[in-house]
Amino acid sequence: MSATPIIRRMIPDDLDQVLEIQGQLQFQSWKREHFISEINEAFFGVPLVAQFDIIVGYAVLKIAADEAELCSIAVCSKYQGQGIARQLLDIASERLVEHQVSKIFLEVRKGNLRAQKLYLDYGFIENGVRRRYYPDGEDAVVMVKDLGCLERC
Ligand SMILES: CC(C)(COP(=O)(O)OP(=O)(O)OC[C@H]1O[C@@H](n2cnc3c(N)ncnc32)[C@H](O)[C@@H]1OP(=O)(O)O)[C@@H](O)C(=O)NCCC(=O)NCCS
Repeated sequence: MSATPIIRRMIPDDLDQVLEIQGQLQFQSWKREHFISEINEAFFGVPLVAQFDIIVGYAVLKIAADEAELCSIAVCSKYQGQGIARQLLDIASERLVEHQVSKIFLEVRKGNLRAQKLYLDYGFIENGVRRRYYPDGEDAVVMVKDLGCLERC
């Protein structure tokens, strides 16, 4: 099943719902202030939400020169498996190419196979492992996607 939400830049009014999704999924524990600083970052931040009548997902990317980092992506459980994360990545990639970004990096827990499958299907490749990267000792898989093709197409 696929669904097409509106994907737009995150604003402070979204944060109650964004924090609720984060709390439901328990994969990260960013505070409200952390999201606010990404929202306030006019050029180097790409914070997005996916919205139907309610917000169902979000992604936060940070630009550093010609590279970006995918810091966070989440879709609330009820809406997973409908292509929403993929659509967030599509819009984020478009924004990054507009900013002359050529590569996206990310770290993902070794055990988060669902997210890894999303990234691999989306064209990320593994680029190393950071041993005991997370506070609980789990390794992080580093992945990278080259946006060069998007730039040329
Ligand atoms: C990872 C996550 C963002 C994916 O969101 P999603 O909207 O369900 O993903 P999509 O529907 O866009 O699916 C894209 C790909 O993800 C994978 N995927 C999605 N649902 C899946 C499922 N139920 N089982 C296995 N793989 C799945 C598939 O590869 C899918 O590609 P396909 O449509 O060609 O099969 C979501 O599961 C989530 O929020 N997880 C908790 C937070 C998290 O782990 N974030 C990543 C931190 S690095």
